[in-house]
Amino acid sequence: MKALAVFTSSREVRLIDQPDPVIGGPTEVKLRILEAGICGTDREIASFQYGMPPVNSPHLVIGHEALGEVVDVGSDVTGLAPSDLAVLMVRRPCPHDRCVPCRTGRPDFCNTGDFTERGIKGAHGFMTEFVVDDQRYLVKVPKELREVAVLLEPLTVAEKAGEQIRILVQRLPGHLRVDPSNLRAVVLGAGPIGLLGAMKLVGANFETYVYYRGKADSPNVSIVSAIGARFISSVEHPPEDLAKMLGEISLVYEATGVVKISFDVLSVLGVNGVYIFTGVPGVKAPIEMDAERIMRNLVLKNQVLCGTVNAGRESFEEGVRDLGSFMQRFPAAVRALITARMTLDGARDAVLAKGGIKSVITVA
Ligand code: BGC
Ligand code: ZN
Repeated sequence: MKALAVFTSSREVRLIDQPDPVIGGPTEVKLRILEAGICGTDREIASFQYGMPPVNSPHLVIGHEALGEVVDVGSDVTGLAPSDLAVLMVRRPCPHDRCVPCRTGRPDFCNTGDFTERGIKGAHGFMTEFVVDDQRYLVKVPKELREVAVLLEPLTVAEKAGEQIRILVQRLPGHLRVDPSNLRAVVLGAGPIGLLGAMKLVGANFETYVYYRGKADSPNVSIVSAIGARFISSVEHPPEDLAKMLGEISLVYEATGVVKISFDVLSVLGVNGVYIFTGVPGVKAPIEMDAERIMRNLVLKNQVLCGTVNAGRESFEEGVRDLGSFMQRFPAAVRALITARMTLDGARDAVLAKGGIKSVITVA
């Protein structure tokens, strides 16, 4: 079968031929990959800035956002049968007994750093024709969601952020009495992670703003309006203006990976505010920021700064429910997130190119 591989030492990205994977244990499931999404992480891996092949492999098959159709199941598999649709989780636990998160099904909080991530770190990914994995890493998806279910993995970034926010707001007295529609949330960036985050926040009834450097007539901004969020141009309005325009900002969901603007917005976060980072910037020279003001605010305004990576099973399941409700509420906006589809033969060019919101490889 074909697979898109990145060769780290010879610095090549190309389609390879490899044997089909086979079911090796009673709880394993074989999937035919239907679609695989391309994201910034894939582009970084394909430009050799990130990613790690499995031990003893010269290459890494990339792809970590995938929808598959079950074609075969091991004898002890429950809850999945041939022709079911499923998405795959990304992270796999480290081997150490001492790592409580990995031992309790939350490798997204792995303590040791020895986790693997399919298509990213130490394990092959999903930009290929067939994949075998243990049932515990597969999440069933209703057939009605087939055309957009490839968006689930990126949606889980927002879902895990939502989980973290629910935990963090519990520190506030009377938090159960707070009506989110009286709270302002700002999303930084209008790429797939930002727009899916905005959908989640709108779904949770926050007054949601998307702060974005693109133009008002861009397809990204059309999605912002279509879901009932509001666009604020970061080109026209510096972060300073945000608090003046909006009043207290209770929540910021960062989805740009751009350090300067992210910290500038942190400096205008409101009282008792929560700020969630999801971006993974490259390591560059130190930059200047208003550190005194930021630290002073963090303390005097009881603010929380929280980074979040990857997601646990519950976030995938909540994602399935949310994607269903987004499709009820604003189906055209969800569909519009996928701006290009190409076959596996075009995958290399698509990963090396940029542009559009989300490009998706249609495998089968
Ligand atoms: C993936 C995450 C992963 C992260 C860091 C993201 O693109 O969606 O699952 O943990 O990259 O490797
Ligand atoms: Zn990704």
